[in-house]
Amino acid sequence: MLLRRSCGLGALLGTGLTALLMESLALAERGLPVTRVISRMTLQQILARAVGDDVILNASNVVDFVDNGSTVTVILENGQKYDGDLLVGADGIWSKVRKVLFGHSEASYSGYTCYTGIADFVPPDIETVGYRVFLGHKQYFVSSDVGAGKMQWYAFHKEPPGGTDVPNGKKERLLKIFGGWCDNVIDLLLATDEEAILRRDIYDRIPVFSWGKGRVTLLGDSVHAMQPNMGQGGCMAIEDGFQLALELEKAWTKSVESGTPLDVFSALKSYEEARRIRVAIIYGMARMAAIMASTYRPYLGVGLGPLSFLTKLRIPHPGRVGGRFFIKIAMPLMLSWVLGGNSEKLEGRPLCCRLSDKASDDLQRWFEDDDALERALGGEWYLFPAGNENNELLQPIHLPKDAQTPYLIGKKHSHADIPGTSIALPLPQVDELHARITCKDNAFYLTDMQSQHGTWISDNEGRQYRAPPNFPVKLRPSDIIEFGSDKKAVFRVKVLNTLPPPTQNEGRQVLQPV
Ligand SMILES: Cc1cc2nc3c(=O)[nH]c(=O)nc-3n(C[C@H](O)[C@H](O)[C@H](O)COP(=O)(O)OP(=O)(O)OC[C@H]3O[C@@H](n4cnc5c(N)ncnc54)[C@H](O)[C@@H]3O)c2cc1C
Ligand SMILES: *[C@@H]1O[C@H](CO)[C@@H](O)[C@H](O)[C@H]1NC(C)=O
Ligand SMILES: *[C@@H]1O[C@H](CO)[C@@H](O)[C@H](O)[C@H]1NC(C)=O
Repeated sequence: MLLRRSCGLGALLGTGLTALLMESLALAERGLPVTRVISRMTLQQILARAVGDDVILNASNVVDFVDNGSTVTVILENGQKYDGDLLVGADGIWSKVRKVLFGHSEASYSGYTCYTGIADFVPPDIETVGYRVFLGHKQYFVSSDVGAGKMQWYAFHKEPPGGTDVPNGKKERLLKIFGGWCDNVIDLLLATDEEAILRRDIYDRIPVFSWGKGRVTLLGDSVHAMQPNMGQGGCMAIEDGFQLALELEKAWTKSVESGTPLDVFSALKSYEEARRIRVAIIYGMARMAAIMASTYRPYLGVGLGPLSFLTKLRIPHPGRVGGRFFIKIAMPLMLSWVLGGNSEKLEGRPLCCRLSDKASDDLQRWFEDDDALERALGGEWYLFPAGNENNELLQPIHLPKDAQTPYLIGKKHSHADIPGTSIALPLPQVDELHARITCKDNAFYLTDMQSQHGTWISDNEGRQYRAPPNFPVKLRPSDIIEFGSDKKAVFRVKVLNTLPPPTQNEGRQVLQPV
């Protein structure tokens, strides 16, 4: 907690406990070199050894401190006092140092309690899968290979905070909650000893905008406790420590060269500035990941000041375009940013570790602009037969974007007098020429041709309306279109990322949504 000028700067890395456990989702695919999973205990031992026993004081509960402008004095519970040039409050989510600096503030309950355990267990597919997330309603389960034949797992369950378990009742409760889940989950729970299961309610804190005052600063969970969903809390604490060491080193060199006193204040300000934005974004993403992991709620509602565009991140159901987009494009991009770090700090690293500035601009634009997002997906558009009374005659209809002529929808195939590709729907309520679909600037529009029974559209938001005659209506992915009103010619607009297999002579084309 306390750094004397005489200690090496590396001592900072030993402050607090940190855990490094990175997800390998996108990285394994990309062959990125940055993924390492290490258990918290092992990491603590490594850090403690690096710092040296003589620097670590056990059982020293800090209760207060005084910064008189040139020295910080910390006061321990037992009344002992220690002086130093600066104080780094790396004292976790319930930080005393933060409380003395900024007063009491409530942490936000995530809605989840978390059981965690370690088991001697080697899943059969360990060679290929190191990290796994299982999702369910109001609960999710994460398992991770932490090496040496051990698996660590986290079981999240939505319930009010403050719950407790009867003695020796954790495993039993988990087996009840996750009883119906697949073997991967059950086997791990069964392989874990009751004593190896811990429980804690998950809280986080909206990162404060000022990290310190004078010669006192914060680091890790004390300033930006985040939800564990992305496995980033400990990583961020380590990055904080690294940045702080860099800034102090710089200030130290400067003071030696110029013969002036060490400018602790400016060094702490630079540290804070270098870290603030990255940490806030990752905090937001960890929350978002929590939301995504448990329900497909469309909004992330936290105030992040200048980063408010993040609050507009939509995480719709994966069946919807945004959902697919998110999982397919945004998530890997974000993960590579999360794990790759700020690109400016990665000079000389392979490009695959870096997210170009261009891509992050695009990310923001995509989140704000549905059409840009749709273009970015670049998928192929189809009308898929939908509805209960699926007519045997209905086939998936591919709508190539480069077509020069409109698609003409009507009872029969030929509309000799009108240029276009005809789509025949020989059904009672479909007019000779019922509707037209045109493509302009990569977007599709449907125009009802004054049909007798109408063309009906149900959109993503659950609105249903009759397409006004002779007026082009823009189609959106997952809109439902009904020609007539007898439920016989119902299609869903789908955008797929693969081309359909070659058309068979008979039978239906089966397309796999991606
Ligand atoms: C279920 C769960 C899973 C997680 N999984 C991951 C993961 O996979 N990867 C990852 O990177 N992160 C993960 N995290 C987050 C990670 O544990 C934390 O972000 C990290 O431990 C923060 O480190 P810290 O040093 O800031 O605080 P802590 O680890 O909380 O350390 C604070 C230390 O300060 C001490 N302390 C507190 N008050 C005082 C005081 N008044 N005086 C003196 N000492 C004091 C405490 O005893 C403690 O030793 C997870 C968290 C949870 C809850
Ligand atoms: C502090 O506690 C740890 C863990 O119990 C122990 O390994 C270490 O030797 C202790 N250090 C000192 C200086 O007492
Ligand atoms: C601050 O406190 C230190 C240590 O207690 C003391 O040596 C120093 O003179 C004090 N400085 C001021 C400006 O009060």
